[in-house]
Amino acid sequence: MTLKKKKIVIAIDGFSSCGKSTFAKSIAARLGYIFIDTGAMYRAVTLYALEQGAIRSGIIDEDAVVALLPKIEITFRFNPRRGASDIYVNGDLAEGRIRSIEVSNCVSGVSSIKEVREKLVAMQQQMGRDRGVVMDGRDIGTVVFPDAELKIFMQADAKVRAERRYKELTEKGDKVTMEEILENVISRDKADMSRAISPLRKAEDAIVLDNSYLTVEEQMSWFMERYEAIIAQ
Ligand code: DC
Repeated sequence: MTLKKKKIVIAIDGFSSCGKSTFAKSIAARLGYIFIDTGAMYRAVTLYALEQGAIRSGIIDEDAVVALLPKIEITFRFNPRRGASDIYVNGDLAEGRIRSIEVSNCVSGVSSIKEVREKLVAMQQQMGRDRGVVMDGRDIGTVVFPDAELKIFMQADAKVRAERRYKELTEKGDKVTMEEILENVISRDKADMSRAISPLRKAEDAIVLDNSYLTVEEQMSWFMERYEAIIAQ
């Protein structure tokens, strides 16, 4: 008789541009789990709010964003080429557009709106109800799945993170400077940690992974050791 391995929830929280998504995606592929990038969901709401004029010149009209919520349908579809799911807003592919600097600059403000968080947290809990998910974000181990069997809190030097983001954006042709990226990383850290609702913080039972100078392979073996220990319990 073959014993089926129990499925768990893996919560990965931490600062922006820490490589959480790359890490979470590799784990999901290795374990055959579903990977959910919750930051992409906050970005999708921000993109829609920008397109619908609820954000103008960087000023967020919170009431207008809340009024848009019932009109936003967020879905994921697996893209075998990327080995991960692409995000769609009302049926339109939004994967590339949600990563623009314009969205990055406004997403902290949008993600601090109570009604936005309530809607997205409920969706995330629904997506993970059968376990077998790797979810990355800011509040997964503290709010979305406080009962996650494995919680990881990722961190890395702000400069290292800004360099990674800069490379990512310039490689796809965005005209950005290192200074503005570093500024964006630092101001998002501040905003994420100081917002009133679900601020970014390490869950008491989360394990810290500082990946400033670790390769993806090194992070993977760090992870597998901890995962196997939990599964064996
Ligand atoms: O992971 P990311 O940088 O793509 O996330 C974009 C923004 O969304 C980030 O500034 C914080 C917010 N966010 C959040 O508040 N809660 C989450 N679970 C995920 C992201």
